[in-house]
Amino acid sequence: MSPPATPRGTFLPGLVVLARGAREERRLFAWAVLGSVVYGVGTAGSGWMVGRVTERVVVPALTPGSAERVTTGDVWLAGAALLAITVVTVGGVLVRRILAGATMYALQARYRRALVRRYLDLPLSWHHAHPAGRLLATAASDVEATWQAMAILPFALGVVVLIAVAGAAMVAADPVLGGIGLVVVPALVVANAAYSRAMSPKVRRVQRLRGEVSAVAHESFEGALVVKTLGLAGGEVARFAEESGRLRDANVAAGRTRGAFDPVIEALPQLGTLLVLAVGAARAAGGAADVGDIVQVAYMLSLLAFPVRAIGWTLAELPRTVAGDARLQAVLRESAATPWGARRAARVADPAAPSTRGLEHHHPVPVPDPDDEDDDAGDAGSAARPARAPRPPRPVLSGVDLDVTPGTTTALVGGTGSGKSTLAGLLVRLVDPTSGQVLLDGVDVRELAEGELAGVAALVPQSTFVFDDTVRGNVALGLEEGLDAGAGPSADAGAPTSRRVSDEDVWAALRLAQADGFVAALPEGLDTRVGERGASLSGGQRQRLALARALVRRPRLLVLDDATSALDPAVERAVLDGLGASGLGTTVVVVASRPATIALADEVVHLERGRVVDRGTAAELLERDEGYRDLVSAYARAARERAAARSSVTSSASSTGTGGGSTS
Ligand SMILES: Nc1ncnc2c1ncn2[C@@H]1O[C@H](COP(=O)(O)OP(=O)(O)OP(=O)(O)O)[C@@H](O)[C@H]1O
Ligand SMILES: [Mg+2]
Repeated sequence: MSPPATPRGTFLPGLVVLARGAREERRLFAWAVLGSVVYGVGTAGSGWMVGRVTERVVVPALTPGSAERVTTGDVWLAGAALLAITVVTVGGVLVRRILAGATMYALQARYRRALVRRYLDLPLSWHHAHPAGRLLATAASDVEATWQAMAILPFALGVVVLIAVAGAAMVAADPVLGGIGLVVVPALVVANAAYSRAMSPKVRRVQRLRGEVSAVAHESFEGALVVKTLGLAGGEVARFAEESGRLRDANVAAGRTRGAFDPVIEALPQLGTLLVLAVGAARAAGGAADVGDIVQVAYMLSLLAFPVRAIGWTLAELPRTVAGDARLQAVLRESAATPWGARRAARVADPAAPSTRGLEHHHPVPVPDPDDEDDDAGDAGSAARPARAPRPPRPVLSGVDLDVTPGTTTALVGGTGSGKSTLAGLLVRLVDPTSGQVLLDGVDVRELAEGELAGVAALVPQSTFVFDDTVRGNVALGLEEGLDAGAGPSADAGAPTSRRVSDEDVWAALRLAQADGFVAALPEGLDTRVGERGASLSGGQRQRLALARALVRRPRLLVLDDATSALDPAVERAVLDGLGASGLGTTVVVVASRPATIALADEVVHLERGRVVDRGTAAELLERDEGYRDLVSAYARAARERAAARSSVTSSASSTGTGGGSTS
């Protein structure tokens, strides 16, 4: 069976994947198979027993003047024997069903844990190249698709035993009738295999479209604000209707195939039984067969009809097993990982000295989804579409040499897309530079052990993220548990990162972030839950919470990426002044786009298209750097316009209020 891409070629690779799963959960799987074998032998045994009971009890009892006398005890004994076999068989079915399900769920859990661990290990640059939606789909539906067959595989293996035992018993009972039965079984297997083959592309298409429907819905919900404000609801409904229409058509197509095959598969054993009865009756009339054997073969044949389908179901799942596993392995085998060094960062209370040398950075090119051009027979155009060659990435930063004086505030100023956020991320090693160095106190940050940099440097990103947790949980994030899980091997007992934070620490951080006022006014103070993504807070309140989260760690280097943009200039000034006066000993690098923020900086670094074009005090740059002058006057104009807009709607300007600050 050659390439694994076609459904035809998924048989062996699929079995290999399932064998691996069986090995990984060998105890559960072995019990499930054992239960299934008991079921298979029990079912065949019940067929044999029905034959014997017919021969010894039923026929003599119904034959007037029979030589054998049938007592009530015989009837009871026959009933008890049938009951015993049934109880054993049912026990086997129960064990098989419960443990096959357990095997499948255990494998799903095992692979989900492995994937999530891998996601957390992989560097941010890898995440930038892989959309979150796809990562979610891999952890959710690809894991499910891979191990679905595991729930049926023990059944199918039991059925193989059943066919072997029943086949032997049928032939032993009556070679001619058994022969008819043995022809029906392969015919059933072939019909089931054909069914699986016809179904698998349709099922895969349904699976893919289901993902697309949920992606469209997900995007609409995520962008609800845009959709509502721009009145796009109609268009979104149409987009969703189109996708769900395609899903419906795919489901109907799959249903048609199922409808065509089902009656054939149902009818085959019935026809076989009919044939056995007809031939058997003729043979019995000629004295070549006895009634018990005929009943046994006919009964066994009808018993096989349903379980044989399990083989078909397993075959039908194999393409999904292979496709799902390929996507899991693509993540699990991903070799990109953040290489950590072994050095410890100085945990003194002095401000840090960040610097960069010859920094150059390219963003990675997004990796196309391998499934985008898949087996969709309806999309004839996709094959003709020429493959787009990825353009070589333009450097986002080049030749950046920076030396920040410890304890000062440095403002990064530049037009949109000039590389400010990229530089901010590089300083705290969110990503590694393509070339050049980022240093902290003269040590290349790549030489620091895992968790070291996080212990001394904090970034408040441009778009803040607030968890659906309490205010305390959001501020003390990761510090409550003593960080032993998060900080990796370097988190020795007694190291500053493993300190726990008290409520006083949280309040102190909130005070510095100018957030203590609104938190105190919340109904349950620190214990107030803030809702999904901090939905119950205003934008400015969320930013201050994120700021407090960084400050509670007492960072020696604090990088603020436009993190005060939603604050009033007065509040922002209070935050930055408070930082200076707090004696925390923090070096601050702030991405600034407001004259008020820039004015607070000791030094200004002007970035233009990824290069440092000038640096100095705000006054020096204003005097000699024309680009900077233009930028700042544009900022000032924007600030004036914002202020004017705010004063015209004074009623809603409650940025320090307790509830949602926005009026929407
Ligand atoms: N993950 C990414 N993948 C590819 N390109 C990116 C990525 N992030 C940023 N870029 C590109 O890098 C350039 C610099 O982006 P960056 O976010 O650093 O700009 P910025 O100066 O912070 O802009 P802004 O003021 O708008 O926040 C932009 O051209 C942007 O398109
Ligand atoms: Mg930015």
